[in-house]
Amino acid sequence: MAKQPKHSLATFPLIVTWVVLTVVVMKVHGDFNQTKELYRQLFSDTDNRIHPSLNTSVPKDVFVQVNLLSLREIVEREQYFVINAWIEITWKDEIRSWDPSQYDGVRVVYPGPTDMWKPRLIVSNSVDKRDLFEDDYAPFSLFWDGSAYWLPGTVFALSCTMDMTYFPLDRQSCSLLVLAQQFALDVNLIPALPTANTAGYSQNGEWHLDSTSVTPR
Ligand SMILES: *[C@@H]1O[C@H](CO)[C@@H](O)[C@H](O)[C@H]1NC(C)=O
Ligand SMILES: *[C@@H]1O[C@H](CO)[C@@H](O)[C@H](O)[C@H]1NC(C)=O
Repeated sequence: MAKQPKHSLATFPLIVTWVVLTVVVMKVHGDFNQTKELYRQLFSDTDNRIHPSLNTSVPKDVFVQVNLLSLREIVEREQYFVINAWIEITWKDEIRSWDPSQYDGVRVVYPGPTDMWKPRLIVSNSVDKRDLFEDDYAPFSLFWDGSAYWLPGTVFALSCTMDMTYFPLDRQSCSLLVLAQQFALDVNLIPALPTANTAGYSQNGEWHLDSTSVTPR
């Protein structure tokens, strides 16, 4: 008998949304010298340990959106599941902004992995490495108004306690738990949307994705 359980991905304790990068027709390349000068001004005298706020005593609001692309596998016997997702993490940099008209119309720059502060996030129920956000190639951009976008994406293998009572017509609820490694006083993780974005989700042949929710904990 074909298995037709429902699987609910629920309770990500924080976060996220997608962004189909709204970078559409924006001028990104200006005069080389002016652009270089802009990068120099933005990134030459920085301290990545301090979140970019005017008042650093106030925790930084960091918005998280989960874009669920696929459910690769649910391994009930071993109590874990595997998803492919990218996570959009956004915040407002209150220290860096510029007037595009002063820099040949450049509205967005692409900081290097160590040019700017980033929230340190870990996935606490990962079954292998927890620091899934160390990927230096994740798209990272800063807009003229200080909006920072960081888009790490990966395959997450996550532990999940599953109840097999109704196997093979079971329904499971599993979570992706994202935590800020900084002290809670430093970062305030906020779901950008109450559910994961599943616009790009490819159905799994065996499991039906019933619902998702993104909740702070
Ligand atoms: C850019 O800077 C270099 C070195 O200062 C200078 O030789 C060149 O003419 C500048 N180019 C433009 C387009 O201003
Ligand atoms: C920074 O924020 C803290 C906590 O809200 C507040 O007590 C302090 O007065 C603020 N400092 C400035 C310079 O506004």
